[in-house]
Amino acid sequence: MDVIIVILTITAASGAFVNDLKYAENYVNHREFLLRKKYMPHYHITAPEGWINNPSGFTIFKRQYHLFYQYHPYNGAWGHMSWGHAVSDDLVDWTYYPAALIPKDYYDLHGCLSGTALVRKRYLTLFYTGTIVEDSESLQTQNIALSTDGIIFQKYLYNPIIRRSPNRFEENRNPKVWRHRKLWYMLVGATNILGCGQLNLFTSKDMFNWELNGTVIESYGDMGQVWESPDLFQIGEHHVLMLSVQGVKSDGFRYRNLYQTGYIVGKFNYQRGKFEDAEISTATFNEVDYGHDFYGAKTTKASDGRILMVAWLGMWESDFTESTTGWVSMLTLIREVRINKFGRLLINPVREIAELRVEMIENAWYNPGEKFPAEAKAFELVVNSTSAFSDVGIIFEWEKGHFVIAFSANHGYVSVDRGGVDGIRRAYWSPDKFFFLRIFIDASSIEIFCGDGEVVFSSRIYPKAINIRIAGQTPLHIEQYRLRRSVGFDSKLVKRLMDTVLNGS
Ligand SMILES: *[C@@H]1O[C@H](CO)[C@@H](O)[C@H](O)[C@H]1NC(C)=O
Ligand SMILES: *[C@@H]1O[C@H](CO)[C@@H](O)[C@H](O)[C@H]1NC(C)=O
Repeated sequence: MDVIIVILTITAASGAFVNDLKYAENYVNHREFLLRKKYMPHYHITAPEGWINNPSGFTIFKRQYHLFYQYHPYNGAWGHMSWGHAVSDDLVDWTYYPAALIPKDYYDLHGCLSGTALVRKRYLTLFYTGTIVEDSESLQTQNIALSTDGIIFQKYLYNPIIRRSPNRFEENRNPKVWRHRKLWYMLVGATNILGCGQLNLFTSKDMFNWELNGTVIESYGDMGQVWESPDLFQIGEHHVLMLSVQGVKSDGFRYRNLYQTGYIVGKFNYQRGKFEDAEISTATFNEVDYGHDFYGAKTTKASDGRILMVAWLGMWESDFTESTTGWVSMLTLIREVRINKFGRLLINPVREIAELRVEMIENAWYNPGEKFPAEAKAFELVVNSTSAFSDVGIIFEWEKGHFVIAFSANHGYVSVDRGGVDGIRRAYWSPDKFFFLRIFIDASSIEIFCGDGEVVFSSRIYPKAINIRIAGQTPLHIEQYRLRRSVGFDSKLVKRLMDTVLNGS
């Protein structure tokens, strides 16, 4: 079934593009040897085959969630980026659709980079960055594609809609587009003429013709060279600006990853086209997630008003143990974002995730020193203690590896350690009353939500059969649930697309 969808991806979206067909043929002939599913997640979105990185767009169209992602279908390496596409009714079960965008036009030949998906009138509309490399220089433009059925997308005839960066630098990407009153707004991540991160604003009356308005906010030096994947959302009175940043120096236990996704809280002033009430610096830029593998987060608003977030559960220049087996990486669980009275984000898995539970495997108190086998590759742990004032340790052990979660009551921080070079990540956290964690493991990933979502860690791990051992000084109550598969193909959709392509009807 998945072979078919690769071919469909190509014919349906591009109308038989010769290079792609050659690629696909080669790929289909060799895939038997390539694709091994050992570390493949069961309930996280990964590419059906090939490479996945940042989410490209996330929206609701005709009562379904449409999630797009950076996708290189042909092997487990970054390449000419397509927009992969997955659709869900409930944020739990996801169906693969054919790729929505494929790089094949003169302005996006070397990649359709991420941007925004939104709905305007009857159209599911994608804003994206086209990139081309010429004489070793790259040129990035902003573009539009539209769909009426949410499956096949048509690139706009007069793309690009924004042809050059105001700074004439090559970094100019990931349009975040929204409408306010009668105007359309677009934030684009860039590098300014001093080589510092910058966000520029464009405005439009009709979504197709855009004018540069100016710089919304920029770095004065300590906030890296390149800003990518801007996202802006409102919770109550607060406007939250989220950015993915390259080039911030690590500082103790902050900013340990190669690149960071963080946020500042302030006010987007629509009169002036500026982000205000917030300096952007390492003093104000908080990481969204403290794990080893988290980047390019995006949000959308659910119909009931919740802010939903998804990100790449990955990091550039990682080992990607699975890359030799024909696929790489995954997205995070879909999360709900709230904000507390200190202006800090609270991030938790959406409540719908509980639908994944098929069986309770454990439900008992454990003393330090006790252990039990995990018995599943895909599971959730709910961890409680009646105290918040003594140390807690949870150790996941397997042949030749481990992952340790440790809470130090004295220091008021929680650490994770996955071993290897630079394996430790740490964040300040003082539980409110009781110690409480939710931990999700899915074949080769772990996500840890602390307390009310004050601190989250997302990391890749490569375990074999896991044993769970309790350390520290605190007895823990542990519930363990086996979680089911929730991402796959829909054979009816595949057949319908097949018929469309073969019969041209
Ligand atoms: C930018 O947009 C704001 C409205 O949001 C407008 O008042 C202002 O004049 C614009 N500036 C430029 C340079 O276009
Ligand atoms: C664990 O703690 C959470 C959050 O405080 C609470 O909702 C839940 O009922 C607790 N579960 C148990 C078994 O004590």
